[in-house]
Amino acid sequence: MGSVRIGMIGTGGIARNRHLPCFTKNTDCEVVAIADVVQTSLDEVGAQFGINGLYTDYKEMFAKERLDGVVVCTPNKFHAPASIDALNAGINVLCEKPMALDPTEGRAMIAAAEKNHKILTVGFHYRHRAQVKAAKKVIESGELGHIYMVRVNALRRRGIPSWGSFVHKDIQGGGAMIDFGVHTLDSALYLLGNPKPIEVSATLSQHLGTKPNVNPWGQWNYQQFTVEDQVAAFVRFDNGATMLLECSWALNVPETKETISLSGTEAGLDVFPLKINKAQHDMLLSWSPDWMPNENDEPGIGQAADFINAIKTGQPTNCTAAQALQVTDIVDAMYRSAAAGHAISL
Ligand SMILES: NC(=O)c1ccc[n+]([C@@H]2O[C@H](COP(=O)([O-])OP(=O)(O)OC[C@H]3O[C@@H](n4cnc5c(N)ncnc54)[C@H](O)[C@@H]3O)[C@@H](O)[C@H]2O)c1
Repeated sequence: MGSVRIGMIGTGGIARNRHLPCFTKNTDCEVVAIADVVQTSLDEVGAQFGINGLYTDYKEMFAKERLDGVVVCTPNKFHAPASIDALNAGINVLCEKPMALDPTEGRAMIAAAEKNHKILTVGFHYRHRAQVKAAKKVIESGELGHIYMVRVNALRRRGIPSWGSFVHKDIQGGGAMIDFGVHTLDSALYLLGNPKPIEVSATLSQHLGTKPNVNPWGQWNYQQFTVEDQVAAFVRFDNGATMLLECSWALNVPETKETISLSGTEAGLDVFPLKINKAQHDMLLSWSPDWMPNENDEPGIGQAADFINAIKTGQPTNCTAAQALQVTDIVDAMYRSAAAGHAISL
């Protein structure tokens, strides 16, 4: 196979700032076309990255460009339809996170991938961060023993996206959790080995997002804020593990922080920054790496290489569609639990 022909659907923030810089640096592929419903965005991005194939209709792009792979970078509502259309056109898909608005859409995407024998992967790029890769290695060595307790924090003191359609439930499916919390949730599940979730309990709030407030990311449309600004959740897994998760776009806490803290029968491990803790030699010890490979690499580089490699070799991608669906299943159960006021069994 020669150079892999890549197209992109949606030319907003994530396409411009991560996927286009990363895919255009990958020498095994060529970004030959982009599609967006906004012509001015197409013109701008086409000129910036030297891409000639510009389309306001992605189906026309599929018909004309003989694409091997497409990266779906639209608002969440269009992830499923654009991915399914691409898969049905025989094109491999890397879809931005979250996979879909809900599990029904996610399952339809997987069915389309299976029917067409094409790759479907999801942009959980934290898996390509050096700390997550190192943590996976430590866990696979057995050093932590059985991991039975995980604490996940994705807390922004103030960080409500003020651009695009992030605060609209009908377009995004939710707020802080489906947008931001999904990354650390996915990484935690990946590090746990994706055990089956059996029960989810959650509460959520909209106290800060629905009124004017301080926000370093600019003024969002608080009058049309129909999503959650904060979530707290408790998840049980079939292997006996428990997850406590807190996520916010805006919350009155002293600091913004992202952490994944795993506690096993033999040792514990925190991921951001990486730190191992253990009882040994009659002492409680903690240690951190003085150096780790590729610590400051842009994770989108590894993500692009993973997708291109899967297209070229047929090897599985680092993030399977089934694993991405597990995130969507859990987030959906969080929303259903918060609405119902009780735990949801899965
Ligand atoms: N992995 C990450 O950390 C990360 C970060 C930011 C955004 N994202 C995800 O990327 C996606 C896009 O986010 P963004 O910040 O780039 O949003 P954005 O609003 O900046 O860009 C979205 C683009 O999609 C275009 N678009 C809308 N409907 C379309 C359609 N039907 N066909 C073609 N183009 C269409 C819009 O015109 C716009 O240019 C979201 O799903 C978001 O969750 C992921």
